[in-house]
Amino acid sequence: MSPKSIAVINFKGGVGKTTVTWSLGNIISQNTDLEVLMLDLDPQMSLTEAIGLNESTGHLDDKFGKWYEKSLKHRLTIYDALEVFKKAGQNFKFPVGFETIYQIDEQLHFVPSVEELYWLDLDGFEGKNVKDFIRQFLGKITNSANLPKYELFLFDCSPSFSLLTYSVLSCCDLILIPVNPDYFGSRGLSLVLNSLQKRIEPYPFPKIAVFMNKAKIYGGLLTNEVQFYMREVKRLCADISKENNIEVKFLESTIRESVGLKRAINEGQLPRELVREFEQLWRECAEYLK
Ligand SMILES: Nc1ncnc2c1ncn2[C@@H]1O[C@H](COP(=O)(O)OP(=O)(O)OP(=O)(O)O)[C@@H](O)[C@H]1O
Ligand SMILES: [Mg+2]
Repeated sequence: MSPKSIAVINFKGGVGKTTVTWSLGNIISQNTDLEVLMLDLDPQMSLTEAIGLNESTGHLDDKFGKWYEKSLKHRLTIYDALEVFKKAGQNFKFPVGFETIYQIDEQLHFVPSVEELYWLDLDGFEGKNVKDFIRQFLGKITNSANLPKYELFLFDCSPSFSLLTYSVLSCCDLILIPVNPDYFGSRGLSLVLNSLQKRIEPYPFPKIAVFMNKAKIYGGLLTNEVQFYMREVKRLCADISKENNIEVKFLESTIRESVGLKRAINEGQLPRELVREFEQLWRECAEYLK
């Protein structure tokens, strides 16, 4: 498979973007031979904290903390790359290596977020000079002789439409949208899908997939309420596909609501039933990406 990139987005907060990015990254790197790079583009830094925080002390874990400090000090974070790109444009020079990319496991690597990403607008960045950044940044990573040949890039995006979201949506292969089974879930989905068409001019237009996260299960089956919202969201995907002449696929895979999932991220291990669900979600995404 040629390298693929997946952006996990929804402009609605708290639907599970970070959880899904983390879980897919772990499942795919552990159960396939793919080399995976996760990127945290959200200045809230939830994914970065999930990876770097030591639960018992509440501080950054030693190994990650030291690495992160060095990356900041040597000005080798994704924000620093963006600053260089802003000044130099397309032919920008930036030494991507293991001071920009953190190695979680052999097959799972990570580009953390930085707080400065909050202030891109104030720091004089504009859409036109950020739009091509992620494409160029991935190009540098892909062409680096010192880095593995990543086959999958997974982006955790912020809940707002930031300049970086704009940049990633302009070059990713798949936009993966988790929704929750409630009224606001389907409203949020209309907002994302209708604005995507207007706001980005990617070439080629990425595939879009929507799936249900936090699906309640009772007696081993999806509850009636979840099934109702799944039908609603599926219908919405079909309507929007037709109206905008784009392909929005509603995936059959669901991720159950599970109190164990939050704990799992902190402990670095998913419960078995969730492993199965995320494996299925990945299979469906991979099939769609072919
Ligand atoms: N399937 C699930 N079952 C139970 N809890 C979940 C599930 N998915 C996510 N959560 C919980 O929902 C909360 C929000 O999840 P998460 O941070 O992944 O969402 P997000 O979309 O990334 O949020 P934000 O918009 O702030 O970036 C967290 O407490 C997380 O543990
Ligand atoms: Mg998040």
